Amino acid sequence: MMQQLGIEALRPGPSGDEHAPNHANYDESKANPYPKIPDPLTMDNGQKVTTAAEWWHERRPELVRAFSRYVYGEVPTHVPQVHWTVTAVDHERIGFRPVIATDLIGEADNSADPAITVKIHMTLVTPADAKGPVPVLMMFGPAGFPSPHEPSAEEFARINAAWKKQMTAQDPSLEQVFADHPAWEPFHATPFRFPQMNADGGLPNTWQLINDGWGFALIDPNSIQEDNGAGMRRGIIGLTNKGEPRTPEQWGALRAWAWGAGQGLDYLKTDPAVDSKHVGIEGVSRYGKAALVTMAYDQRFAMVLVGSSGKGGATLLRRNFGEAVESLTGGEYYWMAGNFMKYGASKAKFGSRNPGDIPVDSNELIALCAPRLTFISYGSPAKGDAKWLDHEGSYMATVDANRVFLLLGAKGLTMDGQPYTGPMPPINKGILDGQLAWRQHDGGHTDAPNMMYFLAWADKWMGRSAGQP
Ligand code: GCU
Repeated sequence: MMQQLGIEALRPGPSGDEHAPNHANYDESKANPYPKIPDPLTMDNGQKVTTAAEWWHERRPELVRAFSRYVYGEVPTHVPQVHWTVTAVDHERIGFRPVIATDLIGEADNSADPAITVKIHMTLVTPADAKGPVPVLMMFGPAGFPSPHEPSAEEFARINAAWKKQMTAQDPSLEQVFADHPAWEPFHATPFRFPQMNADGGLPNTWQLINDGWGFALIDPNSIQEDNGAGMRRGIIGLTNKGEPRTPEQWGALRAWAWGAGQGLDYLKTDPAVDSKHVGIEGVSRYGKAALVTMAYDQRFAMVLVGSSGKGGATLLRRNFGEAVESLTGGEYYWMAGNFMKYGASKAKFGSRNPGDIPVDSNELIALCAPRLTFISYGSPAKGDAKWLDHEGSYMATVDANRVFLLLGAKGLTMDGQPYTGPMPPINKGILDGQLAWRQHDGGHTDAPNMMYFLAWADKWMGRSAGQP
């Protein structure tokens, strides 16, 4: 990619270790080397955007093109079709609620290059007692059955009898052991256990969602596109390029994960258990970036919970605090478009570039989500949601994006009936009144302590009462 772009050298990213000599900047007075942030409401030709129509017809498409071209990459026009198959349906229980868990594979047509297979793994879980279609939160992470339904007592008895018979055939002396312990059975039902609690003493996200009457879909990003540079010639990016390297303007892994989520949504739209007008997308850390990218591009998603997303996510690219653009152009270049590497170049045929040259910034990415439900979540640095993520830079972007929510007639980032523009609120004080929400919880690098706030907020905007099956 460096050859394709004519880059000879990249500036190295800073160290995350605060004791290292080349550690990242954590001095707020040095954090804004490029204080002029691109304006979501000024067209590239300098004209101001003053109406919703101008936003929808002119400015939004312009920003979408710029994010594709310079930051996340373009989805090629001929991405192979995905065909979804239900591999198994299990009747499970999450907490005290019966659920239907459907395991799915979305296989991409690989007739153009049979050496590459792409099988998107997604598991959909919906309450079995629902009276109608339910909202669903799609979550980036490992897929699979959350709580497999176990054999009945009678089935366990048969399994145990067969096992003992097999063991005795292998070692006849075991017959006496089994006779001496007639009540002992090797396999039995897992006793009911309460799940591991979150840092805030709350239930896991999946339990909270089901308790509240929602469904969820687990979608495995690695089954769409591997999380490493070597995988660029495999996965959906590699398959689309028939195993050849990508070109500088093509998609990186974040955009590929977002595309995969869109494919998952195509399936959800066919399932009558799902209220497909109310499907959200969620992720933490690198998947928090992917969730925000999904929401920004794919307007069919009604809401997003962006967990601890940092650079490449909600944090301003122009900020110099913690993780840097150079961290992305160096180590994790494959998350982004090849073109993005230019902004970390110190020596290249085009000279050198820096983060201030990027035509767009994260305030505009958040703005692309407007006026849909957008919740920006972080945790506490003291508990491990590292300063590296630049909470302040994400907050600045959120406040600036709010102007677009307001232009579109939404309440946006609102507290006490007023658009909120004050300083970043303290931990555990959310700004949760409008369609753009911010909350930093007191847990670590997770969004779980914010899940109950997200659910109450999203339920309010959907006009549904909590816990409703
Ligand atoms: C690193 C990386 C971040 C990323 C995080 C993660 O810290 O620098 O960009 O979000 O890993 O995904 O865990």
